[in-house]
Amino acid sequence: MCGIVGAVLPKAGKTAEETVLEGLSRLEYRGYDSAGIAVLDATSPHPEIAWRKEVGKLSGLLASLEEQPLPQATTAIGHTRWATHGGVTRVNAHPHLSYDGKLALIHNGIIENAEGYRLHLKQQGINTISETDTEVVAHLLERAFLTEPAPADTKLTPQGFTVADLDPDNLQPENLSRLVRSMLRVTRDLEGSFTLLALHQDCPGVIVAARRSSPLVVGLSEEGNYLGSDVLAFASRTKQALEIGQDEVVVVTPTGVLVLDQSGNQILHTRATQVFPVNPAEAKRAFEVDFATDRVTKEGFSTFMEKEIREQPRAVAQTLDDRLDANGALTLDELRITTDILRGIDSVIIVACGTAAYAGQVARYAIEHWCRIPCEVELAHEFRYRDPVVSVRTLVVAISQSGETMDTIMAIRHAREQGARVLAVVNTPGSTISREADAVLLTHAGPEIAVASTKAFTAQISACYLLGLYLAQVRGNKYADEIADYLEKLQQMPARMQTVLDRYASHLGVENLEAIKSVLFLGRHVGYPVAMEGALKLKEIAYLHAEGFAAGELKHGPIALVEPGQPVVIIVPTPRRPELHRKVVSNIEEVRARGALTLVIAEDGDESVNAFADVVWRVPASPTLYRPLVDVITLQLFALRMAQALGLDVDQPRNLAKSVTVE
Ligand code: M6R
Repeated sequence: MCGIVGAVLPKAGKTAEETVLEGLSRLEYRGYDSAGIAVLDATSPHPEIAWRKEVGKLSGLLASLEEQPLPQATTAIGHTRWATHGGVTRVNAHPHLSYDGKLALIHNGIIENAEGYRLHLKQQGINTISETDTEVVAHLLERAFLTEPAPADTKLTPQGFTVADLDPDNLQPENLSRLVRSMLRVTRDLEGSFTLLALHQDCPGVIVAARRSSPLVVGLSEEGNYLGSDVLAFASRTKQALEIGQDEVVVVTPTGVLVLDQSGNQILHTRATQVFPVNPAEAKRAFEVDFATDRVTKEGFSTFMEKEIREQPRAVAQTLDDRLDANGALTLDELRITTDILRGIDSVIIVACGTAAYAGQVARYAIEHWCRIPCEVELAHEFRYRDPVVSVRTLVVAISQSGETMDTIMAIRHAREQGARVLAVVNTPGSTISREADAVLLTHAGPEIAVASTKAFTAQISACYLLGLYLAQVRGNKYADEIADYLEKLQQMPARMQTVLDRYASHLGVENLEAIKSVLFLGRHVGYPVAMEGALKLKEIAYLHAEGFAAGELKHGPIALVEPGQPVVIIVPTPRRPELHRKVVSNIEEVRARGALTLVIAEDGDESVNAFADVVWRVPASPTLYRPLVDVITLQLFALRMAQALGLDVDQPRNLAKSVTVE
């Protein structure tokens, strides 16, 4: 779950290094245990790899580079790490160098057969100095490079593509050919997942990369070419991007890119920003990055999380925007599954992890209610191991902010193998999940940087509601005027979300936050997943024990946890659903009777809670199914203020990474 960046420029200077460091700062959400960089100057008569790596956040690396700058370079690779193999130490940080110091390698993923190779290398007298799987691959690549026979010609592909076709000034064709062959040979035998970027001293001015089940995109420009775990890595330099497919190897020079399949066959090449695919169908790999990178700043807030919490009305409004056709019917343009297929489905299974799974649990109430179709929600990592009943008539909905969560990717692959149609609700265009799904419904929340997901959650719920209404429309479960009414009310939610922000963003009315040691959250119906989401927020950023329960479950055990002073957050449904409302008010009384400190979320005008609530957070009256959109904001703010009161790093909590790209 690491972040990877590369830059290959024609002229030596500090730009390659600066590009990589800027990219790393944008990718730090993928991990921040350590950071490192390697550079090489292809214009030097004696190119030598220079590198630096430091434990901790990128700021540590930046300080070290400030103190002791690296030489000017044309080419650079950089890495921000979330530790998998080996502890958080400098020696385990990336880049890793080959035993002769000539090759530098960075890696995202897990090489599952690395230990066998480590032993084998040892028998040949090559000892690893780190505990990482990556270092093993660095040695394997270098050994392959040195043993690869000198090529009879300098063709890079069986089709006759040569180094000259990449238009390089100073590449050594034989060495490049050997490096590419080594990458193909070594990666063929690796098991697991990887994105690898290699820089070689005998082959300066080029980065050779490979990917399997880990993300990699290439950025194309007239000034040079870039690589990144996602487009954020280089979006400030170019908006022209190229998707790299499974098991492909990429050769990147300042002026061209060559993409090969695992057998070395050419898939496409580029010259500046122009793409020349061998098969015209591959032209669609090129895409334009469609979000402004200037939005990836804190915009005056002290944390990304706070900024993203406050952006929610806009994120939801953008997700709902522009979804009606000329006749006022709901239309989801980007959906690539035909209405005939959607009419034929007999069940929906939502797969997701963490916050996205809670969004799915909220959505389930709406989908079943509106479409009268069974809807299950399954944690993506559990899905395929329980042998789920999936058929061609199942619609699997994968929800993911990043579109790169490996557990969710594996779940959708499993679903597709069983013949199911997969619809992805994702926030990141061009991500793996959006590419692998049969259809995509984009949330338009904009880049989410804080590890704790906030605006993605409310945007996901909104997108799923659109999907539910669309299914109800095409399947004829609801009349057009009913759908229009639901939509109209949904479109009123951003304003209500803004009201909650106006009321509580600066002041929550809870004192002594730092004294709280554990919090229980209770909710019923759609309030139940929101309670779990509230607890997750508190765990991940405030490191506090927190649990979300279905309020009805309280008496079946959890109430034993309640002792005098125990904070309990209770989400009270609208009084317009008296059967739900009455029961939750009783639950407040029950915990209050045992001395709990009750923090209650209730609608404006619901006075029934006053007698039992120590603190009331008021939210505007909303339709039952839409209440999560306003309720969750108070819980996000509660977690944020708690973490801040404890002096914790809100955006980058310990042990976590934004994007979980390993299983
Ligand atoms: O990128 P995804 O939405 O697929 O991520 C899923 C979870 O890893 C994510 O929601 C995680 O639980 C968040 N850190 C929660 O705030």
